[in-house]
Amino acid sequence: MFVSWSHFSCSLKKALSSSFLPALVIFVCPAASHATDSSTVYQVNENFRQNANVQDLSLFEEAKKDREFFWSKQAHNLDWFQPWDTVLEWDPPYAKWFLGGKLNASYNCLDRHLNESASKIALLWEGERGEERSISYDQLFNEVCKFSNVLKNLGVKKGDKVAIYLPMIPEAVVAMLSCSRIGAVHTVVFAGFSSDSLKDRIIDAGAKFLITADGSFRKGKIVSLKEMADLALASPTPVEKVVVVKHTEVPVPMNEERDFWYDTLMADAKEECPPESMDAEDELFILYTSGTTGKPKGIVHSTGGYLLGATMSLRWVFDIKPADIYWCTADVGWITGHSYVVYGPLSNGATVLLYEGAPDHPERDRFWRLIEKYGVTILYTAPTAIRTFMKWGEQWVKDHDLSSLRLLGSVGEPINPEAWEWYYTHIGRKNCPVVDTWWQTETGSIMIAPIPALHPLKPGSATKPLPGVDVAIVDEKGDSQTSGFLAITTPWPSMLRGVHNDPVRYQSTYWKKWDKGYYFTGDGASIDNDGYVWLSGRIDDVINVSGHRLGTMELESALVDHKAVAEAAVIAISHEIKGQAIVAFVSVKEDVFNHPGLEDELKQHVVKKIGAIARPERIIFICELPKTRSGKIMRRLLRDVAEGRVIGDTTTLSDPSVIEEIKLKYQED
Ligand code: WTA
Repeated sequence: MFVSWSHFSCSLKKALSSSFLPALVIFVCPAASHATDSSTVYQVNENFRQNANVQDLSLFEEAKKDREFFWSKQAHNLDWFQPWDTVLEWDPPYAKWFLGGKLNASYNCLDRHLNESASKIALLWEGERGEERSISYDQLFNEVCKFSNVLKNLGVKKGDKVAIYLPMIPEAVVAMLSCSRIGAVHTVVFAGFSSDSLKDRIIDAGAKFLITADGSFRKGKIVSLKEMADLALASPTPVEKVVVVKHTEVPVPMNEERDFWYDTLMADAKEECPPESMDAEDELFILYTSGTTGKPKGIVHSTGGYLLGATMSLRWVFDIKPADIYWCTADVGWITGHSYVVYGPLSNGATVLLYEGAPDHPERDRFWRLIEKYGVTILYTAPTAIRTFMKWGEQWVKDHDLSSLRLLGSVGEPINPEAWEWYYTHIGRKNCPVVDTWWQTETGSIMIAPIPALHPLKPGSATKPLPGVDVAIVDEKGDSQTSGFLAITTPWPSMLRGVHNDPVRYQSTYWKKWDKGYYFTGDGASIDNDGYVWLSGRIDDVINVSGHRLGTMELESALVDHKAVAEAAVIAISHEIKGQAIVAFVSVKEDVFNHPGLEDELKQHVVKKIGAIARPERIIFICELPKTRSGKIMRRLLRDVAEGRVIGDTTTLSDPSVIEEIKLKYQED
């Protein structure tokens, strides 16, 4: 794309623009409701209903009667070394669950299954090139015990932070469970994040150890993770030791004092490692997620409450049973991977499929081949994947035997009814309920989703909150409405316990919107006459690209970090496949001459700063961003331009004429 606005016209424009006037506050309202209660309703078949884990409303009734008693009863589904003496201490906005209780997450995911299910397969792994591994519960237990000893020998102590930067290989699960076994706090960084993102997270978490791999496979190519890790550690970080898993076998430089091969360390490791007795409130992990400021937040999760939420929601919503072959396609780098690839399924003693590669490698039917080959019964994936499959067409699906499937799940963004219907018809063959699950990194586990045998399904609605979860749709004042902001009104066990090292941000992001002790989700929603919740997406400055959260500020910071950029404003536009796509409006510095390659250079710069998921779809070069007289960027107007809507009120703009020029520029590009 050629940049046609000259440096001269921008300078002239600036010289002519008007001066600053007093501030005006702009309120952003939640998106208007699209909810209806007249949509088609789907029921599960009789066979499903009769065998379902939850067949009646008693869980809801118990929770309604006495929420704390309900959760304490549910907590008996975990194995505790010592029972709790207080169920909940709620000192808003800080909650403590199961005080005095002692347990260990890896014990719950491994040891407790060894009596009855030692030889049961815990992990079925397939690499992109077709390599296979199958690991039983006792093998996984042995591997975790040995790696726990490796970590201890390297000097990892209870409470230490350990960064994990690994592809979707069994060692990622081993690394997470080994940390939890010895009481270390893991922080998994998605392997698609750049070295800068890895470095920022390592520094913020104060991680002294890093577990990575020589590389990973993606679409037939090798991604050198070790190279990224080396770059991240090239400037000072707290990391003292690095463990490297050999996966691609491509030679990588090793720093003799700092880097150790996983295999070599494991060869000498002792097999016995008793689990550390952890307090229910001890930190289990930190996971970074984007917010409305430039810096991602380290969301802190606890051991007891988190594990309880992940364990029970899987039983209720996914109806998990011992014979299931369960596949959640999320990467362990996201919360869905934490709760529904690792902790939830393993705590339930399930057989979990892990696949390292891309859905279209070598062909676009890879997922369906995997389901057929392994007899997958439960599939949990994202709307963006479903829309991609829709685009590729049914021909990739129809010749595969998918009759093993009995339940389908969706997560990450609102699922449009069309995608829901396609998923239901072409993947589920009209035989499997589709559970649309709403939750967040912060909530730790699913909050709103159907209990399949109880809730008739309406495509596009996540239906109702789970037992023991209280939500409300409220307005700016916190009063109930049929359409507005989604709030969670009471504390729940798997809720975040804070933002790492930032109590002020914890308060201001989640608990300041209303003075009622309500948790602010950042999502807009409406509720229909049947009490079904319809999510409409983020109402803050968070963009959801293919189910991945990115902050507009974070993207803007990455853009202005480039030497040519003076200012940047980022918005989301609707995208057929990704749900949302990133569009950046950029003004360049006065002494910089635009050149045809600048757009690509800026896109690449964002990828370098954050990762490939953050690559802007379009960059529009403009002279001046639309600002209020107090200097606040009016992204609302940019959204109007991008969506081709009638431009909203421009009277507060310091220079209303900029919007006409931006419109022209947007259409021209
Ligand atoms: C969005 C992912 C509508 C929402 C588990 C939320 C959804 C954000 C759904 C959290 C859904 C997730 N329907 N929107 N079923 N699931 N979202 O932290 O905007 O990566 O706030 O957690 O994704 O994203 P996160």
